[in-house]
Amino acid sequence: MKDTAIAPSVLAADFANLQRDIEMLNESEADWIHVDIMDGIFVPNISFGIPVCQAIQKHAKKPLDVHLMIKSPDDFLEAFKDAGADRLTVHYETLSHLHRTIGKIKELGCKAGVALNPHTPVSGLEDIIHELDLVLIMSVNPGFGGQQFIEHTYSKILKLKKLAEETQADIWIEIDGGVTDQNASALVKAGANALVAGSFVFKSPEPLSTISGLKKMTASKQRN
Ligand code: DX5
Ligand code: ZN
Repeated sequence: MKDTAIAPSVLAADFANLQRDIEMLNESEADWIHVDIMDGIFVPNISFGIPVCQAIQKHAKKPLDVHLMIKSPDDFLEAFKDAGADRLTVHYETLSHLHRTIGKIKELGCKAGVALNPHTPVSGLEDIIHELDLVLIMSVNPGFGGQQFIEHTYSKILKLKKLAEETQADIWIEIDGGVTDQNASALVKAGANALVAGSFVFKSPEPLSTISGLKKMTASKQRN
């Protein structure tokens, strides 16, 4: 069984002190560094792009978990690989040829993930899940940090866990949006094994202890 991965999102970091915040994550119990790329087209917000990802890579000592919320991810896979991505997650809603895109991500030597918006059913992954390393379930509508967690997420986790078991797919089930100490244990009990947390980590007075708190409360909570 996989240990639960905690992936703080730098979207909520202090961009004027990015190096300091990445160094804090290096020292923390975080497993991955979540990097949110938004293009202002697929989602109604622009975060940052390739040069900032390169700057993060320069200081990061942990794998970069890159979440592409962009309309044409195929055009930028290689650039993000070169900018340090270890995992590349693309949105199901943006791709007509998802199978081809997943193949390209793997050819680049990255782990391949697919993200599902809150309205996108898990069942759409039935014929691709065995090719994936990770499925990211959006627990808010993508585009902004600090939003309210959508409770329906739990039933999507249960469906995805069942699909993964039926197809013997060894995937990370990652939850993104509105994750706090109030829902982290329950998410892991439902079947999640990777949690993204932006505001909860970076807006807390002690981000290091907030991360270790999340790590502790999600350890050995997983279902078999
Ligand atoms: C939202 C992003 C999230 C965001 C989470 O579109 O994909 O990764 O940073 O932020 P919080 O944890 O503040 O909801
Ligand atoms: Zn994200």
